[in-house]
Amino acid sequence: MKKIAVFTSGGDSPGMNACVRAVVRSAIYHGLEIYGIRRGYNGMIKGDIFKMESSTVSNIIQRGGTILKSARSKDFPTKEGRQQAYEQLQKFGIEGLIAIGGDGTFTGANTFYEEYGIPTIGAPGTIDNDLYGTDYTIGYDTAVNTAIYAIDKIRDTADSHERVFFVEVMGRDSGYIAIPCAVGGGAEIVMIPETKTTIEKVVDALQTGWSRSKTSFIVIVAEGDEEGTAVEIAAKVQKALPQMDARVTILGHVQRGGAPTAADRMLASQLGIACVEGLLQGRACEMAGIMNSELVYTPFIDTITKTKALNPNFSRMIDILSV
Ligand code: F6P
Repeated sequence: MKKIAVFTSGGDSPGMNACVRAVVRSAIYHGLEIYGIRRGYNGMIKGDIFKMESSTVSNIIQRGGTILKSARSKDFPTKEGRQQAYEQLQKFGIEGLIAIGGDGTFTGANTFYEEYGIPTIGAPGTIDNDLYGTDYTIGYDTAVNTAIYAIDKIRDTADSHERVFFVEVMGRDSGYIAIPCAVGGGAEIVMIPETKTTIEKVVDALQTGWSRSKTSFIVIVAEGDEEGTAVEIAAKVQKALPQMDARVTILGHVQRGGAPTAADRMLASQLGIACVEGLLQGRACEMAGIMNSELVYTPFIDTITKTKALNPNFSRMIDILSV
């Protein structure tokens, strides 16, 4: 293998740049030519591909976002789209790919390998931490810290005005972001998709808190919670507790930006190197991850179909800590 390419795909996450840097530098270290593909699979289809040098990735380890841009491609899932992508890669002589993204990205790479035999190794780039095959995904630690920074500020105003704040955090269908936000942000209640928390339970918890002279509350709502969005949940609780002074904050995409933490830079660098070395070992359709401090490669199909179970004790922690 002489020429490989790297791209970022799906929702961006802090640390993607650090991972791109590690891929580029380790490819050069191993004597490979390395190309960058802009805008994920869309750029592959359009041939938006350029040669990268060590200097191309100078001064990016600390930057949020992705210098390669990212996209969720509507064309790559089609046969025609993949055919065009293959033709473009052929033009550049690219024999292997490194994809930094999530399960949607890996699904596309699997099909592409079956059809055209171009191997991809993946790095888990998503703030959601919902990928099987790694204890942490690149960007998760930063996203949680960004959210906690905001929650601390919300706590100040909640306390001053004796209000209940419903704070919605990202995470798609998982509560991985919500749990450390709730524990680290001192929240009284957490609502996540993995554990059912009814509106009645929220109402009860607030009433119990008031009876113990608590005057302000933070309720962390994971965006995938089955009771609805933070706005909907706040409205239902407000109906049951007309005396409550409630506010809603949706942290949204703020959680996706900013400089990556040291932990994310380290993880991204480790996995970027592991992606290049995985390709050189002849691996295909596998994601590099760290589990129990060990580097592991997990088949894409497992990262897509297996669920990374959230420790059920985490929700219990909030019950104990908010007593
Ligand atoms: O997967 C990362 C993520 O930020 C999720 O937490 C969220 O549900 C989704 O992406 C938002 O996607 P978009 O940026 O397309 O609105």
